[in-house]
Amino acid sequence: MSENTPARILVLNGPNLNLLGTREPEIYGHETLKDVEELCRAAAAQAGYEIEFLQSNHEGVLIDAIHAARGQVAGIVVNPGAFTHTSIALADAISGVQLPVIEVHISNVHRREAFRHHSYISPVAASIIVGAGVNGYVLGVQQLIHLASR
Ligand code: DQA
Repeated sequence: MSENTPARILVLNGPNLNLLGTREPEIYGHETLKDVEELCRAAAAQAGYEIEFLQSNHEGVLIDAIHAARGQVAGIVVNPGAFTHTSIALADAISGVQLPVIEVHISNVHRREAFRHHSYISPVAASIIVGAGVNGYVLGVQQLIHLASR
C-alpha cells in the first residue's frame, strides 16, 4: 500500500442487486448481497483493508457515494446494474473523482441481450470483471489492492 492511500475500498451496487439470491438465480446465482459483502470483507481483510459496502436503487445516491469517496478510499468496486447501460452521469462521476474503479458484472453480459453489450462505465474503469459470478467482487477487491500497492 502506498503511504497516503487509505486502506479502505468502497463496494457499490446499483439497482435490483438488493434482490440477489432470489432474483433470476439461474443468471445471478443463489448468493445474497450479504454473502457478497462478507466475501468482499474477507478478501480485503487478507491485505489489511476495510470495506465500505453500499447498495442503492437510486442513481443520485450512487453518484453522491462516488463523490464522497474521493480521498477516503483506495478505489471503488462497482456493479452498476442496469445503470451500466444507461448512465452517463455515473460515468462522469467516476471520471470526476479520479479513483481507480473496477467494474463488475456477475453475469456474462456479452452472452445476453444486445442492450447489455454496451457499458458507459467501461471506458472510465481501470479493470472490468464479467461473468465470474459473485467471485467477480473478490477479484475486483484483489485487483484494487494490487493497483493500490504499485
Ligand atoms: C449485471 C448485468 C446488468 O445488465 C443487469 O442490469 C444487472 C446485473 C450483472 O451483475 O450481471 O442488474 O450488472
